[in-house]
Amino acid sequence: MDNHLNNYHLPQFPEPYWRESTSIPEFPKLDKSIHADIGIVGGGITGITTAYLLTKKGYKVALLEADKLLNGTTGHTTAKITAQHGLIYDELIQHVGENKAQKYYHACMDAKQFIKDTITEFNISCDYSKQDAYIYTNSDNYISKIDKEMTAYQMLGIDGELTNEIPLDLPIKKAIVMKNQAQFHPLKYLKALVEYIAKNGGLIFENSTAIDVENGDHPNIITRDGHRVTCNHVVAASHFPFYGGQGYYFARMYPERSYIVAAKSTKNYPGGMYINAEQPTRSIRSTTIDDQELWLIGGENHKTGQGESTIKHYEKLAQFAWETFGLETFPYRWSAQDLTTLDKIPFIGRVTDDQPEVLIATGFRKWGMTSGTIAAHVLTDLITDQDNDYVDLYAPSRFHADPDVKKFLSINTDVAKHFIHHKLEFPSTKIEEIEKDQAKIVRINGNRAGVYRDQDGEVHAVDTTCTHMGCEVNWNEGDRTWDCPCHGSRFSIDGQVMEGPAQQPLQMYHVQQQEDTND
Ligand code: FES
Repeated sequence: MDNHLNNYHLPQFPEPYWRESTSIPEFPKLDKSIHADIGIVGGGITGITTAYLLTKKGYKVALLEADKLLNGTTGHTTAKITAQHGLIYDELIQHVGENKAQKYYHACMDAKQFIKDTITEFNISCDYSKQDAYIYTNSDNYISKIDKEMTAYQMLGIDGELTNEIPLDLPIKKAIVMKNQAQFHPLKYLKALVEYIAKNGGLIFENSTAIDVENGDHPNIITRDGHRVTCNHVVAASHFPFYGGQGYYFARMYPERSYIVAAKSTKNYPGGMYINAEQPTRSIRSTTIDDQELWLIGGENHKTGQGESTIKHYEKLAQFAWETFGLETFPYRWSAQDLTTLDKIPFIGRVTDDQPEVLIATGFRKWGMTSGTIAAHVLTDLITDQDNDYVDLYAPSRFHADPDVKKFLSINTDVAKHFIHHKLEFPSTKIEEIEKDQAKIVRINGNRAGVYRDQDGEVHAVDTTCTHMGCEVNWNEGDRTWDCPCHGSRFSIDGQVMEGPAQQPLQMYHVQQQEDTND
């Protein structure tokens, strides 16, 4: 049943446009132990671009993906290729200084140029177009922030200007435009890199979950099936790193979910990529589908596993699109998870200083097209012993008294609060009261259990204790998953891990035998 609310309707199930409009080659599961120069875990933009760069340099890579290639965050992006990562440059100057803030900008612009050059080199047809990027506000409280950001642009030599008007028919009070940014179809682009890797001796495996790294003479990636990839370097490009050493990454980043609705329109889109400065976030760009405009309206971010019913976030975006632009036909909706570090700069580099052969890339804060491409270059240069100007900026071992201490405390206080919240609640719902396509918390054998009754009436019951550190997972109605409010692990209706840091599935209950013990 579609949601018919107001003047728009949303599809019943989430489906990203990018995946639906591209056929990505399929690869086998890893079924034996192998050797490679570099083992890369994660089949998104970071893992694939790293594998591409290393293959091009003559290294033998083995790329492992737990699911299908490009089915994670990269497949659920807005695909803006820009150095305009929200209001960031004034903040970076305050926290890490002018020199590093400038490097952050140059790293993004280098990534944009690399993507453009690669598209030209392989003549990739991926809907790439040059676009201006706008950050705007419609709130008096944010005008001074926009002004400060413009001052930061001037200090750093960023090509941008203030404006009171934007091409899109949207009320604004002030905006900054960053000229000559870009957008593309990320999966069409990455498909070409995947084909290059496969044609040039790279090994790619899907449905192959890496769960650990064992260190010895050479690091070994261990898979859930017990196979090994023995290599000289390991790259964890699995969104949340599948292996964190003693880096405590779950306590140094926080996870957020955000949403996109895609609307077909007969209206002409005026060009440009937009994001507002205030909350709730509204991010807008377009692409074309069958010669028709497809407007992508994103935003509504919130901490994973926390807040109101997630379907409400889709509805709010659709409502905004309807009220602002008269859009009413939404063939697609999807959501994504993003990780933000303490100082908002990604972690790219050695997992810990005493394990130089294991490298990670994470914490892209929604800007994965540029950050994933930067990561591929930084990691490739670290592995091949080349100089790279950006190594120190992104080093996971960095620490700043401000803002890291404050943010660390706020993240971990929030985790402590959620650790006990819900554990003390004693649900009284009975399984037979749960309707189709509905989930509730019930008690099974005295334990809290999350029970979802699917469209066919079949019941899926899991223990709601997160296998990472024991917080209680919450139901995500919009995407039909169990999400942990502490560090963002996500599980399918049958308890399988969809996002880390958890590595083990939720315990399942066999309800048929247990139903009458529901007390
Ligand atoms: Fe850490 Fe669930 S993700 S306790």
